[in-house]
Amino acid sequence: MKKKIKNVLINEDCLSHLKKLPDNIFDHCITDPPYNISNYENKKEIGWYKSNETWKKNKKFFKINEEWDVFNDDEYFEFCKDFIKEVCRVTKDNGNIIIFGTYHNIYKLGFIIDSLKLRIINSIIWYKRNAFPNITQRMLCESTEQMIWFVNNNKKKAKNWVFNYKEMKMLTENKKQMRNMWDIPMTSVKEKRYGKHPSQKPLELLDRLIIGCTKKKDIILDPFCGSGTTAVSAKKNGRFFYAVEKNKEYFKLSKKRLR
Ligand SMILES: C[S@@+](CC[C@H](N)C(=O)[O-])C[C@H]1O[C@@H](n2cnc3c(N)ncnc32)[C@H](O)[C@@H]1O
Repeated sequence: MKKKIKNVLINEDCLSHLKKLPDNIFDHCITDPPYNISNYENKKEIGWYKSNETWKKNKKFFKINEEWDVFNDDEYFEFCKDFIKEVCRVTKDNGNIIIFGTYHNIYKLGFIIDSLKLRIINSIIWYKRNAFPNITQRMLCESTEQMIWFVNNNKKKAKNWVFNYKEMKMLTENKKQMRNMWDIPMTSVKEKRYGKHPSQKPLELLDRLIIGCTKKKDIILDPFCGSGTTAVSAKKNGRFFYAVEKNKEYFKLSKKRLR
C-alpha cells in the first residue's frame, strides 16, 4: 500500500523516522532544528554575574533550556550532518530546503551544506525588532535569526527551483522586490493561545517562506515541527505538510493548532 504523505503529523524521532521513508518524495523541506544553545554545563556564564543587578532581580528574562537542545559540539555537528543528508535524500531534486539558525549554529549548517556541494540561493535574515534585551552588557543585543535557503542539487546542476517572485513582491509595502531582511515581530501571545513552545516561530515568517518558495499543493516536510508552525502555514496557504516531532506535548500542541 502506498504510504500517505499529505497532511501527516508524526510523533517520533525524525532521524529514525526519515530512514524508513523512500527517496525523493517531498517537494520541499522547511525546518527549524535545535540550535544547541541549551548546554550550559560547560559555560561559566561569567556575563550573568557581571550583569546589572536590576535586571537580575527585577526583570523577567527568558533563557532557552530544553533537553532536546543539548549536544556537545562534535555530537551537534554529526547530528546536523545526519539530518541534512536525510532531508536531501527524501526531498525531490531541485526542491527548496530552508533551515533556520542563529550565530550559534548557522556557520556549522552552512559549512555542511557547502561541503555537500549544494546550491545556496540566499541567506534570509529575520530581524526581531522586539527581541529580548541582552542583560550581560558585554555585547550587542542579538536581534536576528537566519535562514539558509538552498536547492536540493549540486551547484552545477541546480535549476528550476521555485521562487514566486511576483507573489513576494506583492507582500512588500511598496510592491518592490522582496529583500532578504525581514522585519517581523516575535511570535505574538495570540499565536500561543493553544499552548507554549519555547521557540515557536511567527506564522508570518513561515507564510513568507511558503508563499515565496513553494507552489500550491506541494508537500512540505518539517522534521522538527515543534508547535507546528510550518504545518499550519502550509495548510493555510493551500500546500500539504509532513511534520515530525519527537516530544509528545509539542506533538499534541501541533495537533491542536492544526485543528
Ligand atoms: C526549534 S524547535 C521548532 C519550533 C517550530 N519551528 C515552531 O514554530 O514551533 C525544534 C523542535 O524539534 C524537536 N526535536 C528535537 N530533536 C528532534 C528529533 N530528533 N526528532 C524530532 N523532533 C525533534 C524539539 O522537540 C522541538 O520541538
